[in-house]
Amino acid sequence: MHTPPNELFDFDTLVDRSGTASFKWDKYDDPAVIPMWLADMDFQSPPAVVDTLHQRVGHGIFGYTAAPTALKAAIADWLAHHYQWRIETEWLVWLPSVVTGLNVTCRAVGRAGDAVMTTVPIYPPFLTAPKFSRRRVVKTPLIRRGDCWAIDLESIKRTLTDRTRLFLHCHPHNPTGRVFTRRELEALAEVLVANNVIICSDEIHCDLVLDADRHHIPTASLSPEIARHTITLMAPSKTFNLPGLGCAFAIIADEGVRRCFKSTMQGIVPEVNLMGLTAALSAYRQGGAWHRALIAYLRGNRDLVRERIDRIPGLEMTGVEATYLAWIDVHRLQLERPGHFFEKAGVGLADGKDFDGQGYVRLNFGCPRSRLTVALDRIENAVKAHRTARRPADSNSLTE
Ligand SMILES: Cc1ncc(COP(=O)(O)O)c(C=O)c1O
Repeated sequence: MHTPPNELFDFDTLVDRSGTASFKWDKYDDPAVIPMWLADMDFQSPPAVVDTLHQRVGHGIFGYTAAPTALKAAIADWLAHHYQWRIETEWLVWLPSVVTGLNVTCRAVGRAGDAVMTTVPIYPPFLTAPKFSRRRVVKTPLIRRGDCWAIDLESIKRTLTDRTRLFLHCHPHNPTGRVFTRRELEALAEVLVANNVIICSDEIHCDLVLDADRHHIPTASLSPEIARHTITLMAPSKTFNLPGLGCAFAIIADEGVRRCFKSTMQGIVPEVNLMGLTAALSAYRQGGAWHRALIAYLRGNRDLVRERIDRIPGLEMTGVEATYLAWIDVHRLQLERPGHFFEKAGVGLADGKDFDGQGYVRLNFGCPRSRLTVALDRIENAVKAHRTARRPADSNSLTE
């Protein structure tokens, strides 16, 4: 594919993850199934991060920990450098995970029975967090326009009521891979702010923009007024492949909203663990070159997935502007359980129904290219066999 040669970092080695308590790899009883369902990558984290963790383990004392000033400064510098977003370090609120942040936000904003709006398809915790918090989830559709997915602002306007207090926004978007433009974000924020709705902007995938002509714009960076209405959620976990270390943060400019968020966490949400903080500092300070190499490699994988899926009759996909996740339309195969179908073919994909996206599957291409190629071969063979089996018996037979 189009990845420039990279002597410094290795994304090609197949690292055995069996026996490492990997959620992703332990899911399937059959070890031959390639797991591509969960959003973590099969790459080792940046060597500098691994070295820093070794050194910290060597110290041998693992006491209670608080985020060091150096980490707050490193995050502020990263955001200023990559997104021209200048934050005050006191806006940071530490979280053990972004999903915790989604749930705290749902409890902190409004009251029981209020509506929390989001767009579908969507990363499943956006649908469960409102319910866990005794709020009603209200869904509006993302609409497919040509090669990408767009926010349906008219549907949002129609669906807003005075009980809508919160909008959960995923940006860049999981599962569609969209990077929303300034114009789209401004139009969305204008409507929400005018209706006094708080925006929770989950930007965990912000560092994974693959299209050279796309740029991530933090929602809260649009204007001071929008910042006052926004809770941003971020983490180093997707960017540097550290999700098992549990380090994330919210950025909340408005003091009142921040106070409410923190008081909702009190006594329930634990501090970020020592290894998460240690890894995060090293990643933001020393992970820049690795990150650039990762993006180049992921672009190559994304291009390979696109080229192969476009050649398979019955499958369709839209452009993946960001993330390492491809959202693939399998409606035309008329499968009852698409996830199950591909698992039987030896590839473990996430089933779209969990994202409110029936008839789609999500494929994680954050893995060595050789493994991706095998998975794509299996997908192609399974789809071809399925179509051949269905052809003579007319389309009544929907067997998997
Ligand atoms: C949009 C989004 N938010 C949050 C998460 C999970 O973050 P965390 O592991 O920090 O809870 C994911 C993981 O896939 C995600 O895609």
